[in-house]
Amino acid sequence: MRVIALDPARPDAAPIAEAAAALRQGALVAFPTETVYGLGANALDTDAVRAIFAAKGRPSFNPLIVHVQDAAAARQCAAVWPVAAEQLAAAFWPGPLTLVLPKRAHIPDVVSAGLPTVAVRVPAHGVAQALLRAARVPLAAPSANRSTEVSPTTAAHVAKGLGDRVALILDAGPTDVGIESTVVDLTGGSPALLRPGSISTDHLAAVLGTGIVSPISTAAEEAPRPAPGMLDRHYAPRARVHLFDPADREQAARAVRHAARRAAAVVMHPLNAPLENQVLMPGEPAEYARRLYSTLHEMDAAGWEALWIERVPNGSGWDAVRDRLRRAATP
Ligand code: TXA
Ligand code: MG
Repeated sequence: MRVIALDPARPDAAPIAEAAAALRQGALVAFPTETVYGLGANALDTDAVRAIFAAKGRPSFNPLIVHVQDAAAARQCAAVWPVAAEQLAAAFWPGPLTLVLPKRAHIPDVVSAGLPTVAVRVPAHGVAQALLRAARVPLAAPSANRSTEVSPTTAAHVAKGLGDRVALILDAGPTDVGIESTVVDLTGGSPALLRPGSISTDHLAAVLGTGIVSPISTAAEEAPRPAPGMLDRHYAPRARVHLFDPADREQAARAVRHAARRAAAVVMHPLNAPLENQVLMPGEPAEYARRLYSTLHEMDAAGWEALWIERVPNGSGWDAVRDRLRRAATP
């Protein structure tokens, strides 16, 4: 596998052209987006898309997001373009929002895992944008990690997780948002949140002028799997993850101090335990999200066997982080 370093704002034309040519020939290329690194393939090439599933060890029932350069190109993938799509695209693209719409026939079934719908997004990253313009094809791209593992926010995370399963990695440094895009389903009666992200339901509702159906936050425990790929244990580090309430900090501190297996804590307030056994996270949700996955990757690299992670506050601004922590937790 080869890693090419690029300036996120002004990527060199030659490596972008090389990556675009590789994609057009059916190869896989990992590239940065503003959320996490993606593992890209030509979305119109069935064999190339199959190679994504193989490289990730991803179950074939979990559909992929199609990345395009602008809203006009997104519209080419969708059979229907409702007013809500126009409003959300105008407000949030390019940006960390994915829209699920009825699929046009030329998007291969392997992309949508056989569903009659397609997920589309316009990423806001200089390298992703340059690559899409040079490739001149839509790019199917899941997060560039093995299935169920923690998503990559650096090129090093991609290299470590996928190794030689990917030929080329475009490295533009750490990603800005740090967690995956908000996914909104526009195929039903009213817009429904399938995956929370940095664009919150409040942001969406303010643009749409209506509420968002949110199966995740309203009935987290018994909700049917909302997006086909929202497997419960996902985004999980190798270490066992225990979530604890701020009220149980003494118990968590004792567990970290006395754990027979090497244990560390990820906290919002320092614990009464050795400093080298804890990571203090930011108190603001966007900052927390930016650091979450890199922290989990670092904790795995450090060899901790158990992680005690303090639960985040209940406000809606924390929905996306809370969702990722719940999925990282060991059942
Ligand atoms: O930020 C992101 O969205 C990143 C970057 C690379 O763009 N991509 C990403 O892809 O997170 P992935 O494959 O890890 O997650 C895609 C999510 C899954 O939960 C999948 O089930 C859902 O989107 N999805 C894709 N197509 C869908 C469809 N047609 N209907 C419902 N959900 C869909
Ligand atoms: Mg993923």
